[in-house]
Amino acid sequence: MAPADNKGSINDKDVSRRRFFTLMSLGVGWGGLLTALGGVGVGAARFMLPSVLYEPPTVFKIGMPEEYGIGVDTKLKKERQIWVVRNERGLYVMIAICRHLGCTPNFFQDQSLFRCPCHGSIYDTRGNVVGGPAPRTLWRTAVSLDPVDGQIVVSFNTRQDPDPVGTPEGLMVEELGREVEPYFLKI
Ligand code: FES
Repeated sequence: MAPADNKGSINDKDVSRRRFFTLMSLGVGWGGLLTALGGVGVGAARFMLPSVLYEPPTVFKIGMPEEYGIGVDTKLKKERQIWVVRNERGLYVMIAICRHLGCTPNFFQDQSLFRCPCHGSIYDTRGNVVGGPAPRTLWRTAVSLDPVDGQIVVSFNTRQDPDPVGTPEGLMVEELGREVEPYFLKI
């Protein structure tokens, strides 16, 4: 018996190849469409939602006055960018930002000095400039006691920034003049 002549007819291989390419192109098409729709959806969602910048609160509590002994307490420097200082008369809070170009100074307990690693400004524990290029003393924040729970409340954006006086020791501000409300807690 003579073999069947397959010329001009569509065999199974051709059919499955065509189906494969058809399915492929359908898949690519739908995939592209869904991707485009997804992009539009994300864009719309971003448009609908406000772009919120999460910044740390500027008014916050730092615990009870008894938690702070005489001297400089550095435990909140990293978290809150402040130092809490207590003397015989009360307590004040200084901001850990150098008044030269904004670096973060370090406190050296053995020297009782803050030293800025960037350009060498040096501050005493009252924030006076005793060395380096800083043009002003360290900021002090407003402080108060919460009437309900008695914790110290720090208002980071309310700052004491008096004009310092040039002296042989550095740029100084008379201390008792700084120890006034709302920048000093008599406790
Ligand atoms: S930023 Fe502190 S000395 Fe320059």
